[in-house]
Amino acid sequence: MNLEKEAARRRTFAIISHPDAGKTTLTEKLLLYANAIHLAGSVKAKKTSRHAVSDWMKMEQERGISVTSSVLQFEHLGRVLNLLDTPGHADFSEDTYRTLAAVDSAVMLMDHSKGVEPRTKKLFDVCRMRKVPVVTFMNKLDRAGLEPLELVDDVSEQLNLRVAPINWPLGMGRNFKGVVDIHTREVTLFESNQSHGMQIVESSKMPFSEVEPIIGASQFEKISEELELLSEAGERYDHDAFLAGELSPCFWGSAMSNFGIEMLLEFLAGKAAPPGARRTEDDAEIVPGHDRFTGFVFKIQANMNPRHRDRVAFMRVVSGEFERDMDVTIGRSGQTMRMARPQSFMAQDRSLVQTAYPGDIIGIHDPGKLRVGDTVSQKGKLRFAGIPRFAPEHFGQLRLKDPMKRKQLDTGLEQLAHEGVIQLFFRPDTGRQSAYLGAVGMLQFEVLRERLKNEYNVNAVFESLPFKYARWIGGSPEALAWLKRGASFHVLEDRNGDPVLLTESEWGINYALENAKGLELYDVEPL
Ligand code: G4P
Repeated sequence: MNLEKEAARRRTFAIISHPDAGKTTLTEKLLLYANAIHLAGSVKAKKTSRHAVSDWMKMEQERGISVTSSVLQFEHLGRVLNLLDTPGHADFSEDTYRTLAAVDSAVMLMDHSKGVEPRTKKLFDVCRMRKVPVVTFMNKLDRAGLEPLELVDDVSEQLNLRVAPINWPLGMGRNFKGVVDIHTREVTLFESNQSHGMQIVESSKMPFSEVEPIIGASQFEKISEELELLSEAGERYDHDAFLAGELSPCFWGSAMSNFGIEMLLEFLAGKAAPPGARRTEDDAEIVPGHDRFTGFVFKIQANMNPRHRDRVAFMRVVSGEFERDMDVTIGRSGQTMRMARPQSFMAQDRSLVQTAYPGDIIGIHDPGKLRVGDTVSQKGKLRFAGIPRFAPEHFGQLRLKDPMKRKQLDTGLEQLAHEGVIQLFFRPDTGRQSAYLGAVGMLQFEVLRERLKNEYNVNAVFESLPFKYARWIGGSPEALAWLKRGASFHVLEDRNGDPVLLTESEWGINYALENAKGLELYDVEPL
Protein backbone atom coordinates (compact mmCIF):
# COMPACT_ATOMS: atom_id res chain seq x y z
CA MET A 1 0.00 0.00 0.00
CA ASN A 2 2.81 2.33 0.94
CA LEU A 3 4.47 1.51 -2.39
CA GLU A 4 1.51 2.66 -4.46
CA LYS A 5 1.07 5.79 -2.39
CA GLU A 6 4.73 6.72 -2.68
CA ALA A 7 4.83 5.97 -6.42
CA ALA A 8 1.77 8.16 -6.98
CA ARG A 9 3.55 11.04 -5.21
CA ARG A 10 6.48 11.09 -7.65
CA ARG A 11 6.83 13.48 -10.59
CA THR A 12 9.98 12.90 -12.60
CA PHE A 13 10.90 15.41 -15.28
CA ALA A 14 13.68 17.18 -17.19
CA ILE A 15 14.02 20.61 -18.75
CA ILE A 16 14.72 20.73 -22.48
CA SER A 17 15.92 23.89 -24.16
CA HIS A 18 18.31 25.49 -26.59
CA PRO A 19 21.47 26.84 -24.87
CA ASP A 20 20.94 30.23 -23.23
CA ALA A 21 17.18 29.96 -22.98
CA GLY A 22 17.62 29.97 -19.20
CA LYS A 23 17.70 26.31 -18.11
CA THR A 24 20.27 26.83 -15.36
CA THR A 25 18.37 29.82 -14.08
CA LEU A 26 15.02 28.06 -14.15
CA THR A 27 16.44 25.00 -12.40
CA GLU A 28 17.73 27.17 -9.59
CA LYS A 29 14.49 29.04 -9.30
CA LEU A 30 12.42 25.86 -9.14
CA LEU A 31 14.61 24.76 -6.25
CA LEU A 32 14.33 28.16 -4.62
CA TYR A 33 10.54 28.17 -4.82
CA ALA A 34 10.34 24.61 -3.56
CA ASN A 35 12.40 25.80 -0.59
CA ALA A 36 15.10 23.33 -1.49
CA ILE A 37 17.95 25.85 -1.68
CA HIS A 38 18.77 29.34 -0.61
CA LEU A 39 20.41 31.03 -3.51
CA ALA A 40 22.17 33.59 -1.41
CA GLY A 41 24.40 30.89 0.01
CA SER A 42 24.81 28.75 -3.06
CA VAL A 43 27.17 29.34 -5.88
CA LYS A 44 25.53 29.51 -9.23
CA ALA A 45 26.39 26.32 -11.07
CA LYS A 46 29.16 27.04 -13.49
CA LYS A 47 28.00 26.21 -16.92
CA THR A 48 29.92 23.73 -18.95
CA SER A 49 28.79 25.41 -22.13
CA ARG A 50 31.32 28.18 -21.85
CA HIS A 51 34.29 26.02 -21.16
CA ALA A 52 36.73 24.29 -23.40
CA VAL A 53 36.90 20.55 -23.15
CA SER A 54 39.97 20.51 -20.93
CA ASP A 55 38.27 22.77 -18.42
CA TRP A 56 35.15 20.73 -18.68
CA MET A 57 36.97 17.54 -17.83
CA LYS A 58 38.96 19.12 -15.06
CA MET A 59 35.81 20.53 -13.66
CA GLU A 60 34.10 17.17 -13.74
CA GLN A 61 37.07 15.69 -11.93
CA GLU A 62 37.14 18.33 -9.30
CA ARG A 63 33.50 18.28 -8.58
CA GLY A 64 32.85 14.61 -8.93
CA ILE A 65 29.34 14.33 -10.13
CA SER A 66 28.57 17.82 -11.19
CA VAL A 67 25.34 19.66 -10.87
CA THR A 68 25.02 19.57 -14.61
CA SER A 69 24.55 15.86 -14.64
CA SER A 70 22.83 15.19 -11.41
CA VAL A 71 19.35 14.58 -10.24
CA LEU A 72 17.65 17.00 -7.95
CA GLN A 73 14.95 15.71 -5.64
CA PHE A 74 12.67 18.06 -3.75
CA GLU A 75 9.16 18.17 -2.32
CA HIS A 76 6.39 20.53 -3.25
CA LEU A 77 2.71 20.48 -2.31
CA GLY A 78 3.05 16.96 -0.97
CA ARG A 79 4.63 15.63 -4.15
CA VAL A 80 8.20 14.41 -4.60
CA LEU A 81 9.73 16.01 -7.67
CA ASN A 82 12.74 14.49 -9.36
CA LEU A 83 14.36 16.94 -11.75
CA LEU A 84 16.87 15.28 -14.02
CA ASP A 85 19.37 17.83 -15.11
CA THR A 86 21.03 17.51 -18.49
CA PRO A 87 24.40 18.69 -19.78
CA GLY A 88 24.60 22.29 -20.83
CA HIS A 89 26.86 21.63 -23.77
CA ALA A 90 25.24 20.74 -27.09
CA ASP A 91 28.02 18.27 -27.83
CA PHE A 92 26.74 16.04 -25.07
CA SER A 93 23.17 16.00 -26.27
CA GLU A 94 23.26 12.23 -26.60
CA ASP A 95 23.38 12.21 -22.80
CA THR A 96 20.27 14.35 -22.80
CA TYR A 97 18.48 12.00 -25.21
CA ARG A 98 19.18 9.10 -22.89
CA THR A 99 18.08 11.06 -19.85
CA LEU A 100 14.76 11.68 -21.56
CA ALA A 101 14.22 7.92 -21.49
CA ALA A 102 14.06 8.17 -17.71
CA VAL A 103 11.50 10.95 -17.25
CA ASP A 104 7.72 11.00 -17.25
CA SER A 105 7.35 14.65 -18.36
CA ALA A 106 9.48 17.48 -19.71
CA VAL A 107 9.49 21.25 -19.45
CA MET A 108 10.25 22.82 -22.82
CA LEU A 109 11.86 26.15 -22.05
CA MET A 110 12.04 28.84 -24.70
CA ASP A 111 13.36 32.34 -24.93
CA HIS A 112 10.24 34.20 -26.08
CA SER A 113 12.31 36.38 -28.38
CA LYS A 114 13.53 33.31 -30.25
CA GLY A 115 10.77 30.70 -30.17
CA VAL A 116 11.69 27.23 -31.43
CA GLU A 117 15.45 26.93 -31.90
CA PRO A 118 17.30 23.96 -33.45
CA ARG A 119 17.99 22.18 -30.19
CA THR A 120 14.50 22.78 -28.87
CA LYS A 121 13.19 21.00 -31.94
CA LYS A 122 15.58 18.09 -31.72
CA LEU A 123 14.90 17.50 -28.02
CA PHE A 124 11.19 17.87 -28.53
CA ASP A 125 11.36 15.19 -31.24
CA VAL A 126 12.96 12.84 -28.74
CA CYS A 127 10.09 13.54 -26.30
CA ARG A 128 7.56 12.93 -29.03
CA MET A 129 9.15 9.62 -29.93
CA ARG A 130 8.38 8.44 -26.41
CA LYS A 131 5.11 10.39 -26.11
CA VAL A 132 6.49 12.28 -23.11
CA PRO A 133 4.07 15.03 -21.99
CA VAL A 134 5.64 18.46 -22.46
CA VAL A 135 4.93 21.67 -20.53
CA THR A 136 6.03 24.86 -22.31
CA PHE A 137 7.56 27.80 -20.44
CA MET A 138 8.17 31.03 -22.35
CA ASN A 139 11.03 32.79 -20.62
CA LYS A 140 12.57 36.26 -20.47
CA LEU A 141 9.32 38.26 -20.60
CA ASP A 142 11.21 41.07 -18.89
CA ARG A 143 12.78 41.59 -22.31
CA ALA A 144 11.19 42.34 -25.65
CA GLY A 145 10.12 39.30 -27.64
CA LEU A 146 7.74 37.96 -30.25
CA GLU A 147 4.05 38.77 -30.20
CA PRO A 148 2.48 36.09 -27.96
CA LEU A 149 -0.16 35.01 -30.49
CA GLU A 150 2.46 34.66 -33.21
CA LEU A 151 4.75 32.78 -30.90
CA VAL A 152 2.09 30.26 -29.93
CA ASP A 153 1.17 29.74 -33.59
CA ASP A 154 4.78 29.35 -34.54
CA VAL A 155 5.52 26.76 -31.85
CA SER A 156 2.40 24.91 -32.71
CA GLU A 157 3.24 24.82 -36.41
CA GLN A 158 6.92 24.06 -36.15
CA LEU A 159 6.46 21.26 -33.67
CA ASN A 160 3.11 20.10 -34.95
CA LEU A 161 1.84 20.34 -31.39
CA ARG A 162 -1.34 21.69 -29.85
CA VAL A 163 -0.33 24.53 -27.51
CA ALA A 164 -2.81 25.54 -24.79
CA PRO A 165 -1.91 28.74 -22.92
CA ILE A 166 -2.65 28.43 -19.20
CA ASN A 167 -1.84 32.06 -18.63
CA TRP A 168 -1.16 35.00 -20.89
CA PRO A 169 1.40 37.81 -20.65
CA LEU A 170 0.46 41.40 -19.92
CA GLY A 171 3.00 43.19 -22.06
CA MET A 172 6.71 42.45 -22.28
CA GLY A 173 10.08 44.08 -21.77
CA ARG A 174 9.79 47.28 -19.80
CA ASN A 175 6.03 47.06 -20.08
CA PHE A 176 5.80 43.57 -18.65
CA LYS A 177 3.18 43.74 -15.93
CA GLY A 178 2.41 40.12 -15.17
CA VAL A 179 0.22 37.29 -16.44
CA VAL A 180 -3.48 36.62 -16.50
CA ASP A 181 -4.92 33.17 -15.92
CA ILE A 182 -6.81 32.22 -19.08
CA HIS A 183 -9.43 30.33 -17.15
CA THR A 184 -10.07 32.40 -14.01
CA ARG A 185 -8.97 35.76 -15.49
CA GLU A 186 -7.02 36.42 -12.35
CA VAL A 187 -3.95 38.58 -12.83
CA THR A 188 -0.65 37.92 -11.07
CA LEU A 189 1.32 41.13 -11.05
CA PHE A 190 4.98 41.22 -11.92
CA GLU A 191 6.98 42.89 -9.21
CA SER A 192 10.67 42.57 -9.22
CA ASN A 193 12.41 43.33 -5.98
CA GLN A 194 15.97 44.39 -5.45
CA SER A 195 17.29 40.95 -4.50
CA HIS A 196 18.38 40.13 -8.07
CA GLY A 197 16.29 37.02 -8.03
CA MET A 198 17.87 35.63 -4.88
CA GLN A 199 14.69 35.64 -2.86
CA ILE A 200 11.13 34.60 -3.41
CA VAL A 201 8.99 37.48 -4.63
CA GLU A 202 5.42 37.58 -3.34
CA SER A 203 3.19 38.61 -6.22
CA SER A 204 -0.11 40.38 -5.68
CA LYS A 205 -3.24 39.31 -7.51
CA MET A 206 -6.32 41.06 -8.82
CA PRO A 207 -9.14 40.38 -11.28
CA PHE A 208 -8.35 41.23 -14.91
CA SER A 209 -11.27 43.66 -15.01
CA GLU A 210 -9.45 45.88 -12.50
CA VAL A 211 -6.02 45.89 -14.07
CA GLU A 212 -6.55 48.69 -16.61
CA PRO A 213 -5.12 51.49 -14.43
CA ILE A 214 -1.94 49.46 -14.05
CA ILE A 215 -1.37 48.38 -17.63
CA GLY A 216 -2.94 51.33 -19.44
CA ALA A 217 -6.00 51.57 -21.68
CA SER A 218 -4.45 50.49 -24.98
CA GLN A 219 -2.69 47.48 -23.48
CA PHE A 220 -5.90 46.55 -21.67
CA GLU A 221 -7.82 46.66 -24.93
CA LYS A 222 -5.22 44.64 -26.81
CA ILE A 223 -5.08 41.92 -24.18
CA SER A 224 -8.86 41.82 -23.82
CA GLU A 225 -9.04 41.14 -27.56
CA GLU A 226 -6.38 38.46 -27.35
CA LEU A 227 -8.20 36.76 -24.49
CA GLU A 228 -11.40 36.90 -26.49
CA LEU A 229 -9.68 35.36 -29.48
CA LEU A 230 -8.13 32.64 -27.33
CA SER A 231 -11.43 31.75 -25.75
CA GLU A 232 -13.06 31.47 -29.16
CA ALA A 233 -10.36 29.93 -31.28
CA GLY A 234 -7.53 29.00 -28.91
CA GLU A 235 -6.55 25.55 -27.76
CA ARG A 236 -8.05 24.59 -24.42
CA TYR A 237 -6.18 22.60 -21.83
CA ASP A 238 -7.12 18.94 -22.02
CA HIS A 239 -5.45 16.79 -19.39
CA ASP A 240 -5.68 13.52 -21.30
CA ALA A 241 -4.25 15.10 -24.44
CA PHE A 242 -1.41 16.52 -22.30
CA LEU A 243 -0.63 13.12 -20.78
CA ALA A 244 -0.68 11.58 -24.25
CA GLY A 245 1.95 14.10 -25.38
CA GLU A 246 -0.43 15.71 -27.89
CA LEU A 247 -1.03 19.04 -26.20
CA SER A 248 1.33 21.31 -24.33
CA PRO A 249 0.12 23.67 -21.60
CA CYS A 250 1.99 26.95 -21.93
CA PHE A 251 3.20 29.34 -19.19
CA TRP A 252 4.95 32.70 -19.41
CA GLY A 253 7.41 34.32 -17.08
CA SER A 254 10.91 35.42 -16.31
CA ALA A 255 13.13 32.93 -14.54
CA MET A 256 15.72 35.56 -13.79
CA SER A 257 13.25 37.81 -12.00
CA ASN A 258 11.48 34.93 -10.27
CA PHE A 259 8.27 35.44 -12.12
CA GLY A 260 5.97 32.62 -13.17
CA ILE A 261 7.97 29.98 -11.30
CA GLU A 262 5.31 29.29 -8.70
CA MET A 263 2.65 28.66 -11.32
CA LEU A 264 4.88 26.29 -13.25
CA LEU A 265 5.88 24.46 -10.09
CA GLU A 266 2.30 24.10 -8.98
CA PHE A 267 1.39 22.65 -12.35
CA LEU A 268 4.29 20.20 -12.29
CA ALA A 269 3.42 19.00 -8.79
CA GLY A 270 -0.28 18.82 -9.53
CA LYS A 271 -0.61 17.70 -13.12
CA ALA A 272 2.66 16.35 -14.52
CA ALA A 273 2.61 12.65 -15.33
CA PRO A 274 3.09 10.19 -12.47
CA PRO A 275 5.53 7.29 -12.94
CA GLY A 276 4.39 5.13 -15.82
CA ALA A 277 4.55 1.44 -16.66
CA ARG A 278 7.36 0.08 -18.80
CA ARG A 279 7.35 -2.70 -21.36
CA THR A 280 9.72 -5.61 -21.25
CA GLU A 281 11.36 -7.06 -24.34
CA ASP A 282 8.73 -9.78 -24.46
CA ASP A 283 6.02 -7.15 -24.26
CA ALA A 284 4.85 -7.63 -20.69
CA GLU A 285 3.92 -4.46 -18.85
CA ILE A 286 5.53 -3.74 -15.49
CA VAL A 287 3.49 -1.23 -13.49
CA PRO A 288 5.00 0.90 -10.70
CA GLY A 289 2.90 -0.90 -8.09
CA HIS A 290 4.39 -4.28 -9.03
CA ASP A 291 5.83 -5.80 -5.85
CA ARG A 292 9.14 -6.70 -7.47
CA PHE A 293 11.80 -4.02 -7.67
CA THR A 294 12.89 -3.23 -11.22
CA GLY A 295 14.91 -0.39 -12.68
CA PHE A 296 17.11 0.54 -15.61
CA VAL A 297 20.39 2.34 -16.14
CA PHE A 298 20.16 5.45 -18.31
CA LYS A 299 23.51 6.99 -17.64
CA ILE A 300 26.95 6.02 -16.44
CA GLN A 301 29.22 8.71 -15.18
CA ALA A 302 32.87 8.16 -14.53
CA ASN A 303 34.69 10.58 -12.31
CA MET A 304 37.73 10.12 -14.46
CA ASN A 305 39.98 9.58 -11.53
CA PRO A 306 42.87 7.56 -12.93
CA ARG A 307 43.68 5.95 -9.57
CA HIS A 308 40.36 4.40 -8.81
CA ARG A 309 37.94 3.94 -11.57
CA ASP A 310 34.95 5.43 -9.90
CA ARG A 311 31.86 4.92 -11.95
CA VAL A 312 28.34 5.74 -10.93
CA ALA A 313 25.38 4.23 -12.74
CA PHE A 314 22.21 6.31 -12.67
CA MET A 315 19.22 4.08 -12.32
CA ARG A 316 15.56 4.90 -12.64
CA VAL A 317 13.25 2.88 -10.40
CA VAL A 318 10.40 1.45 -12.49
CA SER A 319 8.54 -0.74 -10.02
CA GLY A 320 8.58 -1.99 -6.46
CA GLU A 321 10.37 -0.65 -3.45
CA PHE A 322 14.11 -0.30 -3.66
CA GLU A 323 16.06 -1.08 -0.51
CA ARG A 324 19.67 -0.52 0.24
CA ASP A 325 21.84 -3.64 0.03
CA MET A 326 19.29 -5.63 -1.90
CA ASP A 327 20.58 -8.17 -4.41
CA VAL A 328 19.49 -7.72 -7.99
CA THR A 329 19.99 -9.51 -11.28
CA ILE A 330 21.27 -7.72 -14.37
CA GLY A 331 18.93 -8.71 -17.20
CA ARG A 332 21.54 -8.78 -19.95
CA SER A 333 24.23 -10.83 -18.26
CA GLY A 334 22.32 -12.69 -15.58
CA GLN A 335 24.98 -11.55 -13.08
CA THR A 336 23.87 -10.61 -9.60
CA MET A 337 24.90 -7.43 -7.89
CA ARG A 338 24.44 -5.98 -4.43
CA MET A 339 23.00 -2.49 -4.35
CA ALA A 340 25.48 -1.28 -1.79
CA ARG A 341 25.87 2.40 -0.96
CA PRO A 342 23.13 3.73 -3.22
CA GLN A 343 23.04 7.51 -3.41
CA SER A 344 20.53 10.20 -4.02
CA PHE A 345 21.43 13.69 -5.12
CA MET A 346 20.45 17.09 -3.97
CA ALA A 347 22.26 19.91 -5.67
CA GLN A 348 25.90 19.34 -4.73
CA ASP A 349 25.16 17.00 -1.87
CA ARG A 350 24.93 13.29 -2.18
CA SER A 351 23.38 11.21 0.52
CA LEU A 352 22.86 7.53 1.11
CA VAL A 353 19.49 6.13 0.17
CA GLN A 354 17.72 3.59 2.32
CA THR A 355 14.63 3.21 0.18
CA ALA A 356 13.47 4.54 -3.17
CA TYR A 357 10.23 4.32 -5.10
CA PRO A 358 9.12 4.28 -8.74
CA GLY A 359 10.11 7.52 -10.43
CA ASP A 360 13.15 7.99 -8.19
CA ILE A 361 16.70 8.01 -9.47
CA ILE A 362 19.49 6.38 -7.55
CA GLY A 363 23.21 6.31 -8.12
CA ILE A 364 24.96 2.98 -7.76
CA HIS A 365 28.70 2.45 -7.64
CA ASP A 366 29.41 0.31 -10.63
CA PRO A 367 32.37 -2.03 -10.55
CA GLY A 368 32.13 -2.31 -14.33
CA LYS A 369 29.21 -4.73 -14.50
CA LEU A 370 26.62 -2.29 -15.81
CA ARG A 371 25.96 -0.74 -19.20
CA VAL A 372 23.68 2.01 -20.34
CA GLY A 373 20.27 0.50 -21.04
CA ASP A 374 20.67 -2.40 -18.58
CA THR A 375 17.69 -3.61 -16.60
CA VAL A 376 18.14 -4.70 -13.01
CA SER A 377 15.51 -6.59 -11.11
CA GLN A 378 14.83 -8.43 -7.92
CA LYS A 379 13.96 -12.13 -8.14
CA GLY A 380 15.29 -13.23 -11.46
CA LYS A 381 16.04 -11.95 -14.93
CA LEU A 382 14.01 -9.36 -16.75
CA ARG A 383 14.77 -6.96 -19.61
CA PHE A 384 13.07 -3.75 -20.52
CA ALA A 385 13.20 -2.60 -24.11
CA GLY A 386 16.55 -0.79 -24.18
CA ILE A 387 17.47 2.84 -24.62
CA PRO A 388 18.01 3.54 -28.30
CA ARG A 389 21.09 5.10 -29.80
CA PHE A 390 20.76 8.25 -31.86
CA ALA A 391 22.41 8.68 -35.22
CA PRO A 392 25.88 10.18 -34.79
CA GLU A 393 26.80 13.22 -36.82
CA HIS A 394 30.58 13.04 -36.52
CA PHE A 395 32.83 10.14 -37.39
CA GLY A 396 36.45 9.21 -37.07
CA GLN A 397 39.02 6.56 -36.33
CA LEU A 398 41.82 6.25 -33.85
CA ARG A 399 45.40 5.64 -34.86
CA LEU A 400 47.66 4.19 -32.21
CA LYS A 401 50.96 5.84 -31.43
CA ASP A 402 52.21 2.55 -30.03
CA PRO A 403 50.92 -0.47 -31.99
CA MET A 404 51.59 -2.73 -29.01
CA LYS A 405 48.68 -1.11 -27.24
CA ARG A 406 46.07 -2.56 -29.60
CA LYS A 407 44.53 -4.76 -26.94
CA GLN A 408 44.20 -1.97 -24.39
CA LEU A 409 42.67 0.24 -27.06
CA ASP A 410 40.07 -2.36 -27.99
CA THR A 411 39.17 -2.96 -24.34
CA GLY A 412 38.98 0.76 -23.65
CA LEU A 413 36.84 1.45 -26.67
CA GLU A 414 34.46 -1.33 -25.84
CA GLN A 415 34.04 -0.29 -22.23
CA LEU A 416 33.65 3.39 -23.02
CA ALA A 417 31.12 2.59 -25.72
CA HIS A 418 29.08 0.68 -23.12
CA GLU A 419 29.13 3.80 -21.00
CA GLY A 420 27.76 5.73 -23.93
CA VAL A 421 30.84 7.92 -24.43
CA ILE A 422 30.88 7.11 -28.16
CA GLN A 423 29.33 4.65 -30.59
CA LEU A 424 31.26 2.01 -32.46
CA PHE A 425 30.67 0.74 -35.98
CA PHE A 426 32.50 -2.14 -37.53
CA ARG A 427 33.46 -2.98 -41.07
CA PRO A 428 32.35 -6.51 -41.92
CA ASP A 429 35.76 -7.26 -43.51
CA THR A 430 37.98 -6.16 -40.65
CA GLY A 431 35.75 -7.28 -37.78
CA ARG A 432 36.05 -5.72 -34.35
CA GLN A 433 39.39 -4.13 -35.14
CA SER A 434 39.65 -0.70 -36.76
CA ALA A 435 36.28 0.36 -35.48
CA TYR A 436 34.75 3.53 -36.82
CA LEU A 437 33.77 5.92 -34.05
CA GLY A 438 30.56 7.89 -34.14
CA ALA A 439 29.44 10.75 -31.91
CA VAL A 440 26.62 13.25 -31.79
CA GLY A 441 29.05 15.99 -30.69
CA MET A 442 32.75 16.44 -31.47
CA LEU A 443 33.68 16.93 -27.81
CA GLN A 444 32.72 13.32 -27.16
CA PHE A 445 35.86 12.33 -29.12
CA GLU A 446 37.98 14.59 -26.92
CA VAL A 447 36.56 12.98 -23.82
CA LEU A 448 37.22 9.57 -25.33
CA ARG A 449 40.85 10.36 -26.12
CA GLU A 450 41.44 11.85 -22.69
CA ARG A 451 39.91 8.87 -20.93
CA LEU A 452 41.80 6.34 -23.05
CA LYS A 453 44.98 8.09 -22.02
CA ASN A 454 44.16 8.38 -18.31
CA GLU A 455 42.40 5.13 -17.68
CA TYR A 456 43.82 2.72 -20.26
CA ASN A 457 47.22 4.26 -20.82
CA VAL A 458 46.62 4.43 -24.55
CA ASN A 459 47.79 7.35 -26.64
CA ALA A 460 45.86 7.60 -29.83
CA VAL A 461 45.52 10.13 -32.61
CA PHE A 462 42.03 10.93 -33.74
CA GLU A 463 41.47 11.13 -37.46
CA SER A 464 38.21 12.42 -38.69
CA LEU A 465 36.21 10.64 -41.40
CA PRO A 466 34.11 12.57 -43.91
CA PHE A 467 30.77 10.92 -43.09
CA LYS A 468 27.96 13.06 -41.76
CA TYR A 469 25.02 10.71 -41.56
CA ALA A 470 24.38 7.30 -40.09
CA ARG A 471 21.11 5.46 -40.71
CA TRP A 472 20.06 2.10 -39.39
CA ILE A 473 18.95 -0.08 -42.27
CA GLY A 474 15.58 -1.83 -42.27
CA GLY A 475 13.08 -3.06 -44.81
CA SER A 476 13.63 -5.75 -47.43
CA PRO A 477 16.74 -7.98 -47.52
CA GLU A 478 17.05 -7.12 -51.23
CA ALA A 479 17.49 -3.47 -50.38
CA LEU A 480 20.33 -4.29 -47.99
CA ALA A 481 21.95 -6.48 -50.63
CA TRP A 482 21.61 -3.64 -53.16
CA LEU A 483 23.35 -1.23 -50.79
CA LYS A 484 26.14 -3.69 -50.09
CA ARG A 485 26.77 -4.12 -53.83
CA GLY A 486 27.03 -0.39 -54.45
CA ALA A 487 30.67 0.69 -54.26
CA SER A 488 29.73 4.17 -53.09
CA PHE A 489 27.76 3.00 -50.06
CA HIS A 490 29.37 2.23 -46.75
CA VAL A 491 27.42 -0.42 -44.90
CA LEU A 492 28.78 -1.14 -41.45
CA GLU A 493 27.59 -3.05 -38.42
CA ASP A 494 26.61 -1.57 -35.08
CA ARG A 495 27.20 -2.99 -31.59
CA ASN A 496 24.57 -5.67 -32.20
CA GLY A 497 25.74 -6.60 -35.67
CA ASP A 498 22.82 -4.72 -37.27
CA PRO A 499 23.53 -2.95 -40.56
CA VAL A 500 24.07 0.80 -40.62
CA LEU A 501 24.57 3.04 -43.63
CA LEU A 502 27.12 5.86 -43.42
CA THR A 503 27.00 8.64 -45.98
CA GLU A 504 28.70 11.95 -46.52
CA SER A 505 25.60 13.74 -47.73
CA GLU A 506 21.86 13.73 -47.44
CA TRP A 507 21.84 13.21 -51.17
CA GLY A 508 23.32 9.73 -50.62
CA ILE A 509 20.46 8.83 -48.30
CA ASN A 510 17.83 10.07 -50.70
CA TYR A 511 19.45 8.29 -53.63
CA ALA A 512 19.45 5.02 -51.70
CA LEU A 513 15.81 5.46 -50.67
CA GLU A 514 14.77 6.16 -54.25
CA ASN A 515 16.66 3.30 -55.79
CA ALA A 516 16.74 0.43 -53.32
CA LYS A 517 13.33 -1.18 -53.37
CA GLY A 518 11.73 -1.67 -49.98
CA LEU A 519 14.53 0.16 -48.14
CA GLU A 520 13.80 1.78 -44.78
CA LEU A 521 16.30 4.00 -42.99
CA TYR A 522 16.09 5.16 -39.37
CA ASP A 523 17.94 7.91 -37.55
CA VAL A 524 17.25 6.22 -34.21
CA GLU A 525 18.35 2.68 -33.53
CA PRO A 526 15.31 0.42 -33.87
CA LEU A 527 14.78 -1.67 -30.73
P1 G4P B 1 21.11 27.93 -20.10
O1 G4P B 1 21.39 27.15 -18.86
O2 G4P B 1 19.83 27.52 -20.78
O3 G4P B 1 22.23 28.02 -21.07
O4 G4P B 1 20.81 29.44 -19.67
P2 G4P B 1 21.14 30.28 -18.37
O5 G4P B 1 20.21 29.97 -17.26
O6 G4P B 1 22.58 30.26 -18.09
O7 G4P B 1 20.73 31.70 -18.94
C1 G4P B 1 21.35 32.26 -20.08
C2 G4P B 1 21.36 33.76 -19.94
O8 G4P B 1 20.00 34.22 -19.92
C3 G4P B 1 21.99 34.25 -18.64
O9 G4P B 1 22.57 35.51 -18.89
C4 G4P B 1 20.78 34.43 -17.74
O10 G4P B 1 21.00 35.35 -16.70
C5 G4P B 1 19.77 34.96 -18.74
N1 G4P B 1 18.38 34.75 -18.31
C6 G4P B 1 17.80 33.63 -17.80
N2 G4P B 1 16.51 33.87 -17.52
C7 G4P B 1 16.27 35.15 -17.86
C8 G4P B 1 15.13 35.98 -17.79
O11 G4P B 1 14.07 35.59 -17.34
N3 G4P B 1 15.28 37.26 -18.25
C9 G4P B 1 16.44 37.74 -18.73
N4 G4P B 1 16.48 39.00 -19.14
N5 G4P B 1 17.55 36.99 -18.80
C10 G4P B 1 17.46 35.70 -18.36
P3 G4P B 1 24.10 35.73 -19.05
O12 G4P B 1 24.32 37.19 -19.15
O13 G4P B 1 24.57 34.88 -20.18
O14 G4P B 1 24.72 35.15 -17.74
P4 G4P B 1 24.70 35.73 -16.26
O15 G4P B 1 25.84 36.65 -16.20
O16 G4P B 1 23.37 36.42 -16.05
O17 G4P B 1 24.87 34.53 -15.42
